[in-house]
This record gives sequence, C-alpha cells and structure tokens, in this order.
Amino acid sequence: MPLFLPNFDLQHYNTLGVPVKAQVYVSVADETELVEALRYAGHEKLPLLILGGGSNIVLCDDFSGLVIHIRLHGKTLIAENNEFIWLRVAAGENWHELVEYCLDFHYWGLENLSLIPGSVGAAPIQNIGAYGVELKDVFEELTAIDIRSGLPVTFTKEACEFGYRDSIFKGRLRDQYVITAVTFKLRKQAHLVLSYPALRDALTPQLSDSVTPKTVSDIICAIRRSKLPDPAQVPNAGSFFKNPVIPVAHYESLRLQYPQLVAYPVDEQQVKLAAAWLIDHAGWRGQVCGPVAVHGQQALVLTNPGRAKGSAVVALAEKIQQSVWEKYGVALEPEPRFYP
Ligand code: FAD
Ligand code: EPU
Repeated sequence: MPLFLPNFDLQHYNTLGVPVKAQVYVSVADETELVEALRYAGHEKLPLLILGGGSNIVLCDDFSGLVIHIRLHGKTLIAENNEFIWLRVAAGENWHELVEYCLDFHYWGLENLSLIPGSVGAAPIQNIGAYGVELKDVFEELTAIDIRSGLPVTFTKEACEFGYRDSIFKGRLRDQYVITAVTFKLRKQAHLVLSYPALRDALTPQLSDSVTPKTVSDIICAIRRSKLPDPAQVPNAGSFFKNPVIPVAHYESLRLQYPQLVAYPVDEQQVKLAAAWLIDHAGWRGQVCGPVAVHGQQALVLTNPGRAKGSAVVALAEKIQQSVWEKYGVALEPEPRFYP
C-alpha cells in the first residue's frame, strides 16, 4: 500500500516554486500502487492531479484532492531491426536523462529535445517539441491506465492525435488516463534535423560532416542555457504561452506595420508567430511586477523569483495577454495547465 501523506507542501514539486499544499499526496512506484491510489481517490471522491516533474503546471491555490506523483522507472529494449530500435520507457523516468542515455547507446532521434525538464510520462501530453523535432517524430505507442476502470490501454500514434503542443490527453480524453510508459522508435543511423534557425546559426562555423547527434545535443543545451532560466535558480515553467497560429491575411497586415515580425509557415492558410517577439516588442521583456517577472533573455518565460502564489503569475500573464491583444489583435493561449 503506498503512503498517503496529508497536507503536503508542493513548493519543491513545481518548477514555478509556488508554495501550495495538497490535501493528500502519494508517490507511486509501480502500476499496482498507481491503481491502489486511483481506487483510494475514487472511494474518497477526491479530485486528482497527476504529477510528473511539475514543470508545466501553475498551482494557483492549495489543491483539494489527491496528488499522485508518478515515479515508475525502467527502460526496456523491446525490438530492433537493421534501421530502428524500439525502447519502452516508464513514465517516471526523467526526460533529459533519457536523452543522455540514448546518446550513450547511439539510439538517435531525441537529441534536439535535449534539456527539456520533466518526465517521460508527461511528454506526450503536450507533444513536447524543440529545435525542429516533436515527440511525435520518435513516438511509437504509449500505455496508460484508464482512471475509471483501472485497466491498462495502449494508444498508437494516430490515437494520440498529436498537434503543436497538443494531444488527445489535453482535449477529448483530458483527465481520463494516467500514462505509465512510452515506446520510442529510434534510429541506428543518425538522421540530423538542423532546420531550426538558432541551431543552424550556431552550427554555421562547423564543417557539416563533423556534426554528430552529440554535437547537436551539446549546442542545443548551450543555446537553452543562454536563454532559459534554470528552474532550480529562478523558478519558471518554460514558455508561458503557445506560439499563436493566425490566418495569413492577418499576418500580412501585421507585417506591413512590423516588418521584423518573426513567423513560421504552417500551411497555405496559416502562419505561426513567435509569441516571444510579440511580448518583447510590446515592451515586456525584463519587466518586474512585484514577486514575478518577465525573463530578460526570453520574453516568453515568466519567472517567480519571489516564490509567490500562482495567482501572481496568472495576473502578470493576463496583463501580457491584454497588451498583446491591444497592440497586435493576437490572442495568446497559456501553455502550462492551471490548477485547481
Ligand atoms: P508536469 O508539469 O508534472 O505535468 C504537466 C501536465 O501533464 C499536467 O496536466 C499533468 O497532470 C500531466 N501529466 C504528467 N504526467 C502524466 C502522466 N504520467 N499521465 C497523465 N498525465 C500526466 N516543453 C516543450 O515542449 N519544449 C520545450 O523546449 C520546453 N522547455 C522548457 C524549459 C523549461 C525551463 C521549463 C520549466 C519547461 C519547459 N517545457 C518545454 C515544458 C515542460 O518541460 C514539458 O511540458 C514537460 O513535458 C512537462 O513534464 P512534467 O513531468 O514536468 O509535467
Ligand atoms: N525572440 C524575441 N524576443 C525574445 C525571445 C525571442 O524577439 O525575448 C525571438 C527570437 O529572436 C526568435 C523567435 O523570437 O526569432 C523565437 O525564439 P526562440 O527560438 O527562443 O523560440 P520560441 O518560439 O520562443 C519555442 C518553444 C520552446 C522551444 C523553442 C525551441 C513554444 C511555445 N516555445 O520557443 O519551448 O524550446 O521554441 O524550439 O513553442 C516550452 O514549450 O516551454 C519551450 C521552452
């Protein structure tokens, strides 16, 4: 039986450093403990918060319910052929440690996703992405426990309905499954993805045939360290907003006014704007608002150096949304999930 801890302080379990309490907290190390915890929550009628590394949540207030901390561990090589290996990884494994493990074993494909905080089990929730690669590009399937029945289910890539920072687990099946393991399909021969502008710029001085997945990982780690605050030093939740996708006509009219506007093509009808650029050029970069702030090196990152309640972070986010809306007519949607 896992240990249920009442009135549990979550400050060190969320990267924004928000000091709130969980009514009850339990850490689960295997599927049996997970099912017991789910049964307990069902019996006591407690709302649930499934917790990984706490790097994509905003805890606005104390959580009246059960926090289940996913601590399932293990990696298994389940199949291979001449080209690929299939690696099954438990949900509680640390994401960046998995990237390093794969680099060590020459299983290629995760290198562009280096240094993203959090757990393997949370990665499919928003289809994590960085530097030209998304989780879906290396994903085979996942297993999950159905919260209502306690039974295991497998989801293929198609069933996950991955999109930009999106999956079925944020939409139609929100709060219905706990992911227990993810199976990755990784390459035996390196296949470098070097299309992302900041990565290409950093690689320009190098001879292209001397670039390896390890070089790519090292460069991405260096770029990330130069821009993004380390949550252990300065509490934050990464990008606070998604990059907004807008119609091409709206983009063209904005570009007349702001020729430097940063944008990426999506399809013939839509363009994705760099939210960081919009926020920065609305004058927010480096602004301090009491205990919370807009990061000086990356305007898309809100920080919480004062370790204030989540409501202070949300209040700053709302001011930024209002200002970006008034200046550009663009709506910003938060990326992390707010609780309760
Ligand atoms: P948590 O914050 O614990 O949970 C996030 C959500 O997933 C919650 O709703 C939670 O209930 C749910 N969840 C967690 N685990 C499970 C599970 N096993 N089953 C079901 N639901 C679950 N993201 C990117 O995509 N790209 C980046 O480049 C990136 N950079 C970041 C940089 C920094 C400095 C920070 C702080 C964050 C960054 N993020 C980035 C966001 C974050 O790292 C990812 O979203 C990550 O996948 C969150 O993992 P986690 O374990 O911390 O999830
Ligand atoms: N920019 C500014 N001002 C700033 C910061 C950036 O003008 O303060 C400009 C940059 O010059 C660049 C553009 O905005 O032209 C984009 O910046 P960057 O390359 O830093 O990427 P981003 O769009 O801000 C996204 C992801 C990150 C991911 C990086 C790299 C989202 C919401 N964010 O950020 O993911 O690491 O690309 O791929 O898609 C996260 O999700 O938490 C996250 C950190």
